[in-house]
Amino acid sequence: MNRINDYIAVFDSGVGGVSVLRQLLKIMPEERYLYFGDSANAPYGTRPAEEVRSLTMAAAARFMERGIKALVVACNTATAAAIGELRQKYPDTIIIGIEPALKMAVNRYPSGQVGVLATPVTLAGEKFSQLFHRFETDCEIIPIPAPGLAELVEAGKANSPQSRQLLEPLLAPYAGKLDALVLGCTHYPFAEQTISDILGERVALLDGGEGTARETRRRLENAGLLRSGKGKVIVENSIGSAQMLALTMDLIEQ
Ligand code: DGL
Repeated sequence: MNRINDYIAVFDSGVGGVSVLRQLLKIMPEERYLYFGDSANAPYGTRPAEEVRSLTMAAAARFMERGIKALVVACNTATAAAIGELRQKYPDTIIIGIEPALKMAVNRYPSGQVGVLATPVTLAGEKFSQLFHRFETDCEIIPIPAPGLAELVEAGKANSPQSRQLLEPLLAPYAGKLDALVLGCTHYPFAEQTISDILGERVALLDGGEGTARETRRRLENAGLLRSGKGKVIVENSIGSAQMLALTMDLIEQ
């Protein structure tokens, strides 16, 4: 296995983490990235949390063996299930997780009405419950689980009649009513067009990709680990088919 010491590993259950990778590339184009999507085991969001934890730990162990300088867990579901254990097991590696961008929503819309669209595992987790209780006094927070949406994004159908059919009953009741909808799963920004068509343009769509990228930059800078020169992206996927790699590349370039 090649060593990739100066690489930032970006991990997701599938192609969703590309929405975070794109933000990383925007602010740190000179870095080298290994993007790994575990599409063979996707979706994570409807599995028992224990399975998500163990899949995430297994993927991280493979990155660590290859030697990386930082790990971005670009998956809300995997972060919810495993971030504590990851940090405990690899205290010397920079590890950044992602969580639903509720803080940003509350800052922008104090005493507003904010929906959180995420996977069932994320919404049932301890981390989300802490976020919810921290901000519920400032905002009305409405958790909206969207099982099935990540699968459509994995199938290249993020904005399709199928995604519209899945999202319509979940979101139509809030059309024009919410101040913001937090996209609490990294797959969902790819379905933004359909989500916005249902909710109307007045409802702001917020996600944690940019904040996660900024936090990664800050941590690397503090550790003196930013690099300069020509950047690079390596894409790997546990399915490994040409089609899956092509979809990933496509989303990176979108
Ligand atoms: N992309 C993942 C997240 O941010 C979850 C998708 C899945 O269910 O696998 O939560």
